[in-house]
Amino acid sequence: MDILKIRGGKPLQGQIRASGAKNAMTKLLVASLLSDRKCTFYNVPNIGDVEITVNLCKEIGSEVKWDKEKRILEISTKDLKTTYVPQRYSGSNRIPILMIGALLGRTDQDIIVPTIGGDLIGNRPIDLHIHALQKLGAKIEYREMKKEGAYFAQAHQGLTGAVITLNYPSVGATENTILAAVRAKGTTLIKNAAIEPEIIDLILFLQKLGANIMVDTDRTIRIQQATEFHDVEHTVLTDRNEVASYAMAAISTKGRVFIEGAEHVHMIAFLNKIREIGGGFQVRPNGIEFFYDKPLKGGLHLETDVHPGFMTDWQQPFVVLLTQAEGASVIHETVYENRFGFTYTLKEMGADIELFTQCLGGKACRFASINHLHSLVVKGPTPLKGQEIAIPDLRAGFAYAMAALLSTEESIITNVDYLDRGYEDLVGKLTSLGADITRHQIPDKKVTLKNLLLTDIAPV
Ligand code: EPZ
Repeated sequence: MDILKIRGGKPLQGQIRASGAKNAMTKLLVASLLSDRKCTFYNVPNIGDVEITVNLCKEIGSEVKWDKEKRILEISTKDLKTTYVPQRYSGSNRIPILMIGALLGRTDQDIIVPTIGGDLIGNRPIDLHIHALQKLGAKIEYREMKKEGAYFAQAHQGLTGAVITLNYPSVGATENTILAAVRAKGTTLIKNAAIEPEIIDLILFLQKLGANIMVDTDRTIRIQQATEFHDVEHTVLTDRNEVASYAMAAISTKGRVFIEGAEHVHMIAFLNKIREIGGGFQVRPNGIEFFYDKPLKGGLHLETDVHPGFMTDWQQPFVVLLTQAEGASVIHETVYENRFGFTYTLKEMGADIELFTQCLGGKACRFASINHLHSLVVKGPTPLKGQEIAIPDLRAGFAYAMAALLSTEESIITNVDYLDRGYEDLVGKLTSLGADITRHQIPDKKVTLKNLLLTDIAPV
């Protein structure tokens, strides 16, 4: 088990380079399984979720060359070695379920995918994936196995295009359906589709691969069967989650950070909210600089939403940012019903946060009639205390690191592997910005965190 030690209270200053997007790269790897062509990716982030997905593709039969220094990854899958995703990938992340869409297109053999994981931020069902794939002609059933269940899928007669209307623009369900539709006979229409930048990146990749695919103005994605495939070179888009994370860390610590590669077009909703609270930013030709300009003001009302709205993944660090703003702000989480659990630790650190089951603010969301704490009021500014913190999920992890950077006391953060899944070289990047952060391996599992505060363990 690794831990992070952070002593904050210093402004972050300097320049970093934005990495490739986790939520694009992992899907692109799965999409490469659709054909036997060689796919070369540039700007590949060296993070845990990419590592897991690469291993998963290798299990299926991919040959992979990954130059981590140059951030270039080549993958080709001449033949499928198996169409069974091993049980040990269950619970690793949300990627295995997308294997169903990709493999249904590639093979008429039976496919088995174990129950999927991902962050515990809500119920996270996959009913929309299953219904959409069934509409394309796949037979899918869930079977209980010895330890846990798995999805059994097959399309022995091949898939046929259909009109699919998602009752919510789910990112994963849209991706799974696109993947399956690329090789389905005829034309598929996905109505009420998600149109996140990472999905557009997937579409760009698929077009290069040979798909005839387009996005209409009304959230409809139209895919025609591809019959010829080509080698692809593709530069992965930069990670808007990582950009927003460092932007908030810079502003909340009263610093100034230039993020090379940050793309304005993907940050519109975020930049509007930063401006509303008085945060500074300047868009440059090769990135965006974020800086503390004047005392931050609260009074904000923020609702998370699907793209082009304010993304839910930005919400958790934004709560920490608002603890430093003058006055009360309201956040209404409309994408996940259970993404405020991380605030209990922030309260222990000194934040003034109250949770509500009602939809506070503008609209009634899907969670209006269920009893989930999905709105909050945060009042600031409040100083934050150092704390022993266990990370519950990826973005909460960054929110906690940010909270620790705001405290002049030492914080110890555990469950660091969550951060490894999505943030490339977090310690290196924060250190280069002047943060006092070190990573340590706990030599003995029995050592308690209390002892650790006293023990001087060498950083790794
Ligand atoms: C993707 O998750 C991202 N993960 C998430 O990022 C991100 O928060 C989310 O999209 C929304 O932008 C990856 O790309 C790996 P969804 P996904 O399907 O695809 C409900 C991060 O921190 N839903 O759009 O799983 C679901 O319960 C992670 O990087 C159904 O009801 O998200 C949720 O309330 C966290 N039935 C909502 O839709 C379904 O079949 C959004 O989920 C599918 C989803």
